Parts: sequence; structure tokens; C-alpha cells
Amino acid sequence: MSSFDPELYRADFPILSREIDGKPLTYLDNGATSQKPQCVIDATSRFYANENANIHRGVHYLSRTATEHYEAARTSIKSALRTPETHELIFVRGATEGINLITNGLAEELSAGDEIVLTIMEHHANIVPWQILAQKLDLKLHFIGLTEEGALDLDAWKAAFNERTRVASFTHISNVLGTINPVAEMVAFARSKGATTVVDGAQALPHGPVDLSSFEPDFYVFSGHKVFGPDGIGVLVGNRDRLNGFVPYQSGGDMIDRVAVSGTTFREVPERFEAGTPNISGAIALAEAFAYMEKIDWKAAAIHERSLAEHAVEELKKLGDIQVFGTTPDKTAIVSFLYDVAHPHDVSTILDTEGVAVRDGHHCAQPLMDYLKVPATVRASFAFYNTHADVEAFAKGMQKVQRFFG
Ligand code: ALA
Repeated sequence: MSSFDPELYRADFPILSREIDGKPLTYLDNGATSQKPQCVIDATSRFYANENANIHRGVHYLSRTATEHYEAARTSIKSALRTPETHELIFVRGATEGINLITNGLAEELSAGDEIVLTIMEHHANIVPWQILAQKLDLKLHFIGLTEEGALDLDAWKAAFNERTRVASFTHISNVLGTINPVAEMVAFARSKGATTVVDGAQALPHGPVDLSSFEPDFYVFSGHKVFGPDGIGVLVGNRDRLNGFVPYQSGGDMIDRVAVSGTTFREVPERFEAGTPNISGAIALAEAFAYMEKIDWKAAAIHERSLAEHAVEELKKLGDIQVFGTTPDKTAIVSFLYDVAHPHDVSTILDTEGVAVRDGHHCAQPLMDYLKVPATVRASFAFYNTHADVEAFAKGMQKVQRFFG
């Protein structure tokens, strides 16, 4: 057992002590969204109770304070991510909006016949915007497959680059398989081939800090709600010069330099991409989530999370007729599986009667389901605050499934 004690943190998350129909909540759907510590909840209510005002628009005290806190949130998150000097942080609604902003900007740079390298383990947010762009500009998309264990086939991925390759976009960690991609190696390789790199970090940051200065992707995106922060806020960190070269993704107030009836000039990043009143409380509460995460010993937490996933797989194997997807050693605590005797939807419905929350379905990754030749899986996704008692509740729920269907 690791030396990490999740009990030291659980009391910080009020929802973890609630019951569902008289059973303690066992929350194993962290891949979909994480729970929030009290300090994040407090940061949101503190803003509305004491500081609410619009930013960048007023000289009055509240507006100045809100502006200061919003910009301090940007600075502290940039620092937590070890953002390279050459990059800027833009607040967006989430990873999805971040990728849409990038594809919108790249539309001006790409032309018919250009190629984009993706992987088959992407979730829809890192597929559909590229498909729309490809359709509009007549681009070619390559989807790279996996090894038997569910790791990216890195040789095939490298072999997909040619003189027309302009972009490589890939997830840091798969939301279905838990596979951790070797992002530093991938960014360096894509860069050596002259390709722009886009990394989807939505499933990575909930499992520990990411040092962007160590691999400097052109663009890195993630969602606040998956990193113990609020929903409706996310981050795009991107190369400042590249971003200033993009046409604005949305237009309106705050992103302008000068508006005249004859035309408008735009500000540079970050304001260039933060049109209208942004999610001020969201940014402030997200910075609080990052401050909270800084207190965690992530090396010990990673060992703990892995032991939870291994424990869950051991329990599943006792049932027989279990297929687990994603078995590479380089993976995080996500257990996707099929129980041959029961449909994934029935499995999660029965688990729910025991207070156990998991996700079933295609996990917003239908091309991956097609590739694995399955319609759906059940996914138990762990966070540092989960315990071995959670795994035991999950195992008890699975035994109930076995009694019903086995
Ligand atoms: N991408 C999110 C998940 O994996 C929604 O559940």
C-alpha cells in the first residue's frame, strides 16, 4: 500500500460524504467530471457575495478588485503550468472550446491537401473540429491505431508524417483507456517535421502537475471541471505569436483595440480571444483549485491511484467473463471494461443502486469504440480522493450484477 492517505483530503470535498438512497456515495466517474473541494466552492460564493463586478471596464473599487483577481488567476495558473515565456494563457469554456479556437485560427493557415495526424484514442472534442476543418479545406486526416495493450502505435504515428503534414493533435491521457501518451517525445518529433502540435490535457492535469516548459507544445488545452474546479471555464495555453496571427474566434467587447464604423482593430492575446464578459468567478475558482492541487504529493497520489485501479481489476477478474481495455503499464487510474453477461448500461444501473457512480457508453469516443469493435464499455475512473473502500463498494455492486445476470 502507498503512504498516500486519501482520508486527509476527503473531508475537503463535501459531496463525498453524502448518501445516495441510503448508501454512501462511491464516486468513480472522475473522468467525466471531478468533485470540488470546499475552498473552490467558497471562492465562487466569495466572489458573488463580496466582489462581483465586471472586469477591465470600471474604475470603481469592485471592478478594480475583480480585474485584479481575474488577472491574478491567470498569472498563478500560468505559473503552476510552468508556461514558457513564449506562450500565453487564454480562458475558454473548456478543452472543447480551446480546440475549436485553434481549428478556427488554423483555417487561415492550411490549404487543400494538407494533412493532420490524429490518434484513434481521441475523444470527440479532438476529432469533430478537425473533421469540420478538413471538410471545409479539403484536408486529409490520419487516425493512428493502437497496440494490443491500448498504447499508441508510436511507429505508425511517426510513419504517418510526410511533407504535407501540418498539424499533430493528440490527447495527453486517453479518457477511455487511461493510456499516458509520451507527449514530450511526440511534440519533439512533430516539431522536427515542421508540424504544429496540439495537446489535449483534459485527463492529465487531474492526476498531477504538467510542466509545459519541459516540452513546449504549440497549444495545450484542458477543462476546469475535471481538475477540481468549476465547469464553464477552461484553459488554452498557446504560443503567443501563433495566437496573435489567428483571426479572432469570437468578436465583441474587450477583444477590440478600436472600433469605428469603418472597421475594427483587435487587441493581442490574451484579450484577443476573450470577447465579452468572461467567466470571472470561474477563473478565480479555478486558480483556487490549482492552489489546492499544489498541496498534494502527486508522486504518492499516483501510486495510490494506480493501486486502486489494480485492486478494481483484481476484483473484476474474480467475476470471470471480464474484458479490460487499456492494459499498458503507462496508464492512469481508468478501468474500462465489458462484463460479457450484462450490457454496460445494465451494469451501471445496478451499480447506481449501490451508490456507485461510473460511466457507461461510448465515452464521447465513438471512433475508438469502433476500433475496439465494441458498442460501449463501463468505465470506473479514479481520483486521488478515492479509497480502497470505494473499490470494495464497486466490487460488491459488481457481485450484485453477477447475481442478476451471471
Ligand atoms: N470526456 C468526458 C468523459 O470522458 C466527458 O467522460
